[in-house]
Amino acid sequence: MNVDRRDFGHRAANAVNARDARALERAYDDWADTYDTDHEHFGGALMERFVELCGRNVPRDTGPILDAGAGTGRLAETLRQHGYDDFVGIDLSAGMLEKAGAKGIYRAVHRMRLGGPLSFPDDTFAAVVSLGAMSPGHAGADAFDELIRITRPGGWLVLSMRAGEEKRTGFASGRRSLESNGRWILVDETPEFDSHPELDPPLRYSIHVYRIPTGRR
Ligand SMILES: C[S@@+](CC[C@H](N)C(=O)[O-])C[C@H]1O[C@@H](n2cnc3c(N)ncnc32)[C@H](O)[C@@H]1O
Repeated sequence: MNVDRRDFGHRAANAVNARDARALERAYDDWADTYDTDHEHFGGALMERFVELCGRNVPRDTGPILDAGAGTGRLAETLRQHGYDDFVGIDLSAGMLEKAGAKGIYRAVHRMRLGGPLSFPDDTFAAVVSLGAMSPGHAGADAFDELIRITRPGGWLVLSMRAGEEKRTGFASGRRSLESNGRWILVDETPEFDSHPELDPPLRYSIHVYRIPTGRR
């Protein structure tokens, strides 16, 4: 099916410009049916670079992987094609999660909000991946602490982050502060790049790979 660039733009704008968490959840619930088809045509650069960074840093047989802001499950689906397995998905939107769960890729999916407490014990996951969820009005730097807590010592976090709007997201200062406090170690990253050149204005993202120090606790 062909997707009109303006229709994609409208659906993306609904999510990007959502006023609060309820409006955001509604925007993604409404987008769930067409989300995968839309992304066959748009936003491919972000997925491609994300999978490349996972592939050169995170071992295939690493163990349980949390997909944070899993949406309809496109990332786990793609990572599975690259040899990864054992996914758990969390997301704010029940509509998106329903699509993810129906794909049969995840061991479990849970409705949870990044930025609040996550109901997993310490050191649950060998890796955390998050594609497209760390963005203004979505999940901000206040999500980092909980993601670090539930990642095992020696584990990886591969996180995409929308560029710009530092005042709203706190990404750059949050990342640096956790690095200087030794909570995580930067092992790889991309520069900022146009992830959605088809939107006006285009979205820009960067992707960062962090490792939890093996000697934690
Ligand atoms: C741009 S979509 C990306 C979905 C999926 N990772 C992908 O790449 O196809 C962003 C997703 O993050 C979710 N999201 C946004 N803010 C969130 C938050 N604070 N906590 C949990 N999920 C959130 C949305 O519901 C949506 O499913």
